[in-house]
Amino acid sequence: MKYMDMLALLGVGGAHPGGLHLTKRLLEKEEITSETSILDIGCGTGQTSAYLYCRYGCEITACDINATMVQKANKRFKQLKLPCKAIIEDIEDLSFDDESFDIILLESVAAFTNLSSSLRECKRVLKKGGIILAIETVKEPQMTEEDERLVSEFYHFQSIPNEMEWVEYWKKAGFSTVVSRHEHKIEEEGENIDFGTDFDLSDEIPSNVYDLLDDHERLTKKYQNLLGFCIFRCIS
Ligand SMILES: C[S@@+](CC[C@H](N)C(=O)[O-])C[C@H]1O[C@@H](n2cnc3c(N)ncnc32)[C@H](O)[C@@H]1O
Repeated sequence: MKYMDMLALLGVGGAHPGGLHLTKRLLEKEEITSETSILDIGCGTGQTSAYLYCRYGCEITACDINATMVQKANKRFKQLKLPCKAIIEDIEDLSFDDESFDIILLESVAAFTNLSSSLRECKRVLKKGGIILAIETVKEPQMTEEDERLVSEFYHFQSIPNEMEWVEYWKKAGFSTVVSRHEHKIEEEGENIDFGTDFDLSDEIPSNVYDLLDDHERLTKKYQNLLGFCIFRCIS
């Protein structure tokens, strides 16, 4: 049982730092109309995609590599009667044509993947002048190699770059403008990963899922000063 399987079985919505509160704040700053095509990669249970459609009526493509997540996202869209569809896609090998989207959203997704491949694919499917908004985990300078190993092992991060390393990855993938905002700590009430507000439990939950949830909470506390997150806004 991996951390990501736990998220899928519990059907956690808004499983990224800052949750939907932060997502809303970031989106408000963008020019989004009903014509804007947005790709939500690693959409999880579709909370952000559903919000985007309800708020802006834009063209949403939601995708995730995890079949349970995709099924739960589609269940959400159906319940809300939204004309959205989630599909299975691997960010490292997307099936979309070149230059298909105006905006790509990555909410705590890329760090679980091979960054060179996934960011290159994002660049490929983004229109010229298109924007990536990403909220991703960064390691703080005090984090030791041993801490990093333990955290990566639990969450299955392929890497935990620091802010500068992330910026290098974006630039290497071909993004011309990369703006990052480093958040060391989430100050506002309700702005953390809030595992309590949006669940869609699977019919059968093995008991070790709850052990994993305990471990996650323990690790989150232990590493709260060593793991931060960054908001990246990159232009293709
Ligand atoms: C921490 S969750 C965040 C989910 C969602 N963005 C949210 O904020 O609720 C990470 C998501 O990335 C998806 N993911 C991981 N690797 C992926 C890949 N290679 N391609 C597409 N999605 C992936 C996982 O299945 C999971 O749904």
